[in-house]
Amino acid sequence: MAKTLVIAIDGPAAAGKGTLAKRLAIHYRLHYLDTGLLYRAVGRKAQAAGLDLDNPEEMTPIARDLNFHDIDEPSLRGREAGELASRVAAHSGVRQALNAFQREFAAQPGGALLDGRDIGTVICPDADVKIFVTASAEVRARRRTDELNAKGRTVVYERILEEVRQRDDRDSNRAVSPLKAADDAHLLDTSELSIDGVFRKACSLIDAQISR
Ligand code: DC
Repeated sequence: MAKTLVIAIDGPAAAGKGTLAKRLAIHYRLHYLDTGLLYRAVGRKAQAAGLDLDNPEEMTPIARDLNFHDIDEPSLRGREAGELASRVAAHSGVRQALNAFQREFAAQPGGALLDGRDIGTVICPDADVKIFVTASAEVRARRRTDELNAKGRTVVYERILEEVRQRDDRDSNRAVSPLKAADDAHLLDTSELSIDGVFRKACSLIDAQISR
């Protein structure tokens, strides 16, 4: 039987990771996990309980008690939940509590594709293919501004750029599992590429790697 394929997709917020990851999972028929949702769910649950998101002692039990099968994706989308997620994700206890589920997900029969910040470095260091998706902060902020404006939300580019930079800063500079490309990850800069262009490039990286 062919070995099961595991693909790790990492990168900063709004680089086009999620769109790419979903499409790749369908194309390669892999189980897909958006790991950001786990951190978003912890952030939302903590906020609803009126707890202090910056206190690791209050946040770790929330992550430990998270019901992984009861994650409501639509309610966790959006910038606010992303901010809450980024704050709780800085605590090592929270990360540890979420690691086992992610590793089990990656090891299931049929193969898996996970996207996040530390998949290639911490969760699946032995992944068959690792892709680190990037784009400049300006390009990411421009895309996010256009996306929100298209949805009828009036947002200012400069404000979104500031948010993107703050989130990058928090995710990249935390002590535990910071956002960082694995040494053996392929860097995929999407700044100058269309969504289809990104997908094609990722497929050629993956195909080249798995035919070895
Ligand atoms: O991918 P996202 O925007 O849904 O992630 C939200 C936040 O969760 C992100 O800013 C940092 C955190 N996160 C993380 O620390 N590790 C992951 N594997 C996924 C997300």
